[in-house]
Amino acid sequence: MIQDTKTHDSLRPIRWFEDHLQLLDQRILPQLVQMRDYEDVLEVAKAITDMVVRGAPAIGITAAYGVVLAARSHFAQDAGNWQQTIQADLETLENSRPTAINLAWAVNRMKAVMVGITSGDPVPRLLAEAQKIHADDIAANYKMGELGAAHIAANSGVITHCNAGALATGGYGTALGVIRAGFSRSKISMVYADETRPWLQGARLTAWEMVQEKIPVTLIAEGAASYLMKQGKVSWAIVGSDRIAANGDVANKIGTYSLAVVAKRHGVKFMVVAPTSTVDMATADGDAIPIELRSEDEILRVGGNAIAPDGARAWNPAFDVTPAELVDIIVTERGIVTNPTLKKMQELMAK
Ligand code: MRU
Repeated sequence: MIQDTKTHDSLRPIRWFEDHLQLLDQRILPQLVQMRDYEDVLEVAKAITDMVVRGAPAIGITAAYGVVLAARSHFAQDAGNWQQTIQADLETLENSRPTAINLAWAVNRMKAVMVGITSGDPVPRLLAEAQKIHADDIAANYKMGELGAAHIAANSGVITHCNAGALATGGYGTALGVIRAGFSRSKISMVYADETRPWLQGARLTAWEMVQEKIPVTLIAEGAASYLMKQGKVSWAIVGSDRIAANGDVANKIGTYSLAVVAKRHGVKFMVVAPTSTVDMATADGDAIPIELRSEDEILRVGGNAIAPDGARAWNPAFDVTPAELVDIIVTERGIVTNPTLKKMQELMAK
């Protein structure tokens, strides 16, 4: 019997509460579970840059609510001219992180609604649009969960990288949505989570999320993935994405590319799960995706303490690109693309 795929679904990292935005502070998980309040768009942009909220769909949704806050404040200051005065704030919001296309996608959707507002208080219409973006994301995740889980054989071990879960989305998750649905249907017996240096999203967030949902999880250092695969313990690597180029190249957390290479070597299938808001047909291939470079300190220090000698430098790209040829399937809410190519991505996006 197929069980309800919406079980194991208790976490929501983003909330519009009364008249403001609340974000679960992901920097302090799993030690502290704390929501923070946001009433100012520039504070929201800073929360995205500083990783209070992270994960491509989650930062898109957050930015949409950020536009609501910006509109409220600019309309209160200058009701006749708010559509002009708001522009600099929207640019700051859009530039708060460069790789995830969901951010620009969400801000552009909000701008399209703004243009249609010719008089009166813009907040109700913009809030309705942000809430729709939020609800649509969760619905897409449920759909992708079902589609992706259908490809997994009973009792499989799977490996995931970073956190592409409820915490990285409006709720339920992309890669972890497939894992939630797969676990509900007895397809998944163990989830192996890469710890994901330097921010430890695998250790701090994915392991926490799985423990909350009572889904069995085993943490590994990412260097252990190839040995794990050699032992036959996993049949699928399942990851999310920050941006999928028109030819099917996939940007995701640094280390995803290595995982795809070792998966191919060991006959482990590679699944990318992402809503179509992550697909960027205006970017031809992975070489054209902007890769965020973050501070050296994130590599040189752990919890504020130096782990390398003074004088050592660090290189800290936050993302890498997995070539389409290493991807077996891309799962979206509009359907699945097998062995992605430009033509297949065009067909998907035309649906
Ligand atoms: O730097 P982060 O934590 O924002 O990186 C997140 C990822 O790489 C996720 O895998 C990606 O955004 C997909 S989230 C559903």
